[in-house]
Amino acid sequence: MKIISFEGFEYSGKSTQIKLLKAYLKKNKIKSTFTREPGGFKQLEKIRKIILDSNFDNLTLILFFFASRFALLSQLKSNDLIFFDRFFDSTFAYQKYTAKDKNLILNLINQIDKKFIPKVTFYFKINKNTLSQRKKAVGERNNFDKKYYNQFSRIQKNYEEIGKMNLSNRKFVIIDANKDKEEIHNNILTNLKKWKLIK
Ligand code: TYD
Repeated sequence: MKIISFEGFEYSGKSTQIKLLKAYLKKNKIKSTFTREPGGFKQLEKIRKIILDSNFDNLTLILFFFASRFALLSQLKSNDLIFFDRFFDSTFAYQKYTAKDKNLILNLINQIDKKFIPKVTFYFKINKNTLSQRKKAVGERNNFDKKYYNQFSRIQKNYEEIGKMNLSNRKFVIIDANKDKEEIHNNILTNLKKWKLIK
């Protein structure tokens, strides 16, 4: 199983890149599956709505995100490439405030079977100016956009912290999310080729 994940703050352009990549793989007849968290399959999309519309406290969120995550992993059948729009790094980035949160989240990550640890994670790093411009253009889409917007620096730091950890040798590739979308797309393809995930 070859898992690749996409991570980053809202408005970092993750979704645009996922769309471009999907189109590229289809055109080149490369078999692949795309999923997203929270949710990812029919039953879980209901849970996604519950979580994203909620005002749950942080501990509840951690447990919900991991419950939804383990349910999704248990459904994965494909042996091909599987692309995740967000995965466990999101919980570390968004839900880690204290040392206690950190221990809990790392323990839960540790429960994930090694075969599901991504070969590569693309982390979209955006700067504050680009972020506020894009937010103005797009607006807020759910409770979470509102809640976490002012926590941008904390979340960015958490992403960088988990990016430096050694998790079964996964590669944590930092993408400059302020760049032009074609340039980012090409950078992603170059990396996928470099790590022999596509030809
Ligand atoms: P989504 O609309 O998918 O955001 P985006 O388009 O930016 O990916 O909403 C997912 C939201 O859930 C986003 O605000 C990040 C948050 N989230 C967490 O806080 N923890 C998690 O573990 C996951 C998977 C997502």
